[in-house]
Amino acid sequence: MSETKRLLVVAHAPSPNTRRMKDAVLTGARHEDIEAVETRYLPPLEAGPDDVLEADAIILGTTENLGYMSGALKDFFDRTYYPCLEKTEGLPYALYVRAGRDGTGTLRAVDSITTGLRWRPAQEPLLCRGEFDEAFIGQCEELGLYMAAGLDAGIL
Ligand SMILES: Cc1cc2nc3c(=O)[nH]c(=O)nc-3n(C[C@H](O)[C@H](O)[C@H](O)COP(=O)(O)O)c2cc1C
Repeated sequence: MSETKRLLVVAHAPSPNTRRMKDAVLTGARHEDIEAVETRYLPPLEAGPDDVLEADAIILGTTENLGYMSGALKDFFDRTYYPCLEKTEGLPYALYVRAGRDGTGTLRAVDSITTGLRWRPAQEPLLCRGEFDEAFIGQCEELGLYMAAGLDAGIL
């Protein structure tokens, strides 16, 4: 019997659209075909280093605000960076960003922090940019499913 893996979702979801995106990520990650993965969601302000240290993979979600990741996700990194440094190297992660216009500043900012932590991108970041598009929901669901399936199969 395989050991249950832990997938942590840390996502800022301040609006109806971003809540739907976060819920879609969770729906994908909790797909009925996923057997041995426990998915836990925490808003960034409630997540801390202990949650990361016990995770086998992490999904980050944020809006872009003023050309950067949300203050909430930045606060999460401010509190977790040093306690996790050198203890979470190689942690597989995925990122999705909801941006009204751009998103590139957020992609760069998250990349520089996760590079510092030596986390490993398990897939291309998902940038949901512009006017809200229903396709974002399916893309978020896929992102969650891909991470959970990879963990379940032992290939992440
Ligand atoms: C204060 C504030 C700053 C924002 N700054 C940016 C920004 O720099 N770049 C961008 O692409 N979108 C920006 N946005 C748009 C948000 O990313 C967008 O409203 C958020 O992701 C929620 O999306 P929704 O309207 O689909 O719910 C900003 C929104 C707010 C409220």
